[in-house]
Amino acid sequence: MAEDLKIITAASKEEQYISLIPQIEALLDGETDLVANLANIAAALKEQFNWFWVGFYLVKHDELVLGPFQGPVACTRIAKGRGVCGTSWAKAETLIVPDVDAFPGHIACSSASRSEIVLPLFSHGEVIGVLDVDSAELNEFDETDALFLKQVIDLIKFNA
Ligand code: SME
Repeated sequence: MAEDLKIITAASKEEQYISLIPQIEALLDGETDLVANLANIAAALKEQFNWFWVGFYLVKHDELVLGPFQGPVACTRIAKGRGVCGTSWAKAETLIVPDVDAFPGHIACSSASRSEIVLPLFSHGEVIGVLDVDSAELNEFDETDALFLKQVIDLIKFNA
């Protein structure tokens, strides 16, 4: 496995994802450890896009618990239905939040976070965690991110 990512600049968001996703696939190839793979995905997304915070929360008992991430320290536990992450889990839906201040119940781990996208991670039809990405800019995320980040999380094997 190559350990350096090829980071492209001055490219559209689509081009950045199209360059990055095969590299993430190569990073995960042959590695079955979930934490190792989530850690490298968070690092690869952060390195290419330099978003404020990129990371995973994993369902443990009846809460989301902080998993591998890149960015500032974050809240460790989120109840089902709370905040953007807990709502994505409860609804089993991707949520795009253009302005976190306008999202009722948003959990502000940092006041620097202005917009957010959260995708549920499914294993055998159950939500077993979420991918959470935060930006310091308003309106950072759209359906393009939802589409390509879904392709990223579809690369994760949960039952290995
Ligand atoms: N803002 C999230 C909490 C997690 S942090 O942003 C890393 C939420 O409302 O669920």
